[in-house]
Amino acid sequence: MEAVAVAHPNIALVKYWGKADPSRNLPAVGSISITLDTLTTTTRVRFGRELDGDILTLDGEPASAERSDRVSACLDLLRERRPGLGHAEVVSRNSFPTAAGLASSASAFAALVTAVNPLLEPPLGDAELAEIARRCSGSAPRSLLGGFVELALEGDGTVLRRLLDRREWPLEVVIAVVSRDAKPVGSTAGMELTRTTSPYYEAWLATSTTDLAAARWAIAARDIEALAAVAEGSCLAMHAVAMAARPGLVYWGAPTVDGLHLVRELRRRGTPVFFTIDAGPQLKAVCGPGSSDAVAAALAGVPGVVEVVRCGLGEGARVVGR
Ligand code: DP6
Repeated sequence: MEAVAVAHPNIALVKYWGKADPSRNLPAVGSISITLDTLTTTTRVRFGRELDGDILTLDGEPASAERSDRVSACLDLLRERRPGLGHAEVVSRNSFPTAAGLASSASAFAALVTAVNPLLEPPLGDAELAEIARRCSGSAPRSLLGGFVELALEGDGTVLRRLLDRREWPLEVVIAVVSRDAKPVGSTAGMELTRTTSPYYEAWLATSTTDLAAARWAIAARDIEALAAVAEGSCLAMHAVAMAARPGLVYWGAPTVDGLHLVRELRRRGTPVFFTIDAGPQLKAVCGPGSSDAVAAALAGVPGVVEVVRCGLGEGARVVGR
């Protein structure tokens, strides 16, 4: 009763921010992302009759009560489908800083549900597994697939689809790590604060439908100029609605802003590159195929950037051991 899975973080080009139904963790907007390679979450799950509770070890240390509860809640959703599973020992390792705006919850829950699934009799289908991953973290189902991925709102739920294989448009990503500290307000709390207090929330929701259509078109056409316009627009709109919450959420640091201007200057001079930022200070520069060398060198020179991590597009979550 043991399996190991790996998953990679994804970064959203059209952002998810806000929940239509917090009780089911149903997003208020669809989202489009790219799955990365290089950064990896590896998770081993073992169900054992002798365990009298779930145990989570993260990066070699016992996990905090908050993280352990979140993992148990995710395991509960799986146990609801397959009663009699029992408790689990979960050992997870990230090759990158946890909770610092590098999408660790996405790869964490994608790896967790992927490791558990082959242990279920019978395993869940793709759609049901994606739904469970979404309930655990709204960005997590996107890490189940590789390449360009959309989590669309449909009916009373969500549908996960791949828009393009990673080999069909091998974009490159440079992450300018500005801080390795965990962010002060996590995404879940940040988006609830935004939904309940930001005067721009309705306007934010309205931008999403047009942004999703524009991003789908730009990806199908492999048009990086068009994708740059929509992705930077979605990112800035998400941060604007969050900044207008009371009290306002400002995830950026000074190097984030300097990096943003630098990326725009590089693009103005002809480098195919655009930026995106999630709920943390790291700046992610998405580059056209073969264009990341100059971008990585330039971002490494920004004062306050402590590390530059380079990625290509990665595969979806997968089982790597039984
Ligand atoms: C800014 O998926 O972490 O990265 O559903 O509450 O777990 P929960 O939120 P989470 O939020 C991700 C927010 C984002 C944008 C995105 O990835 O789409």
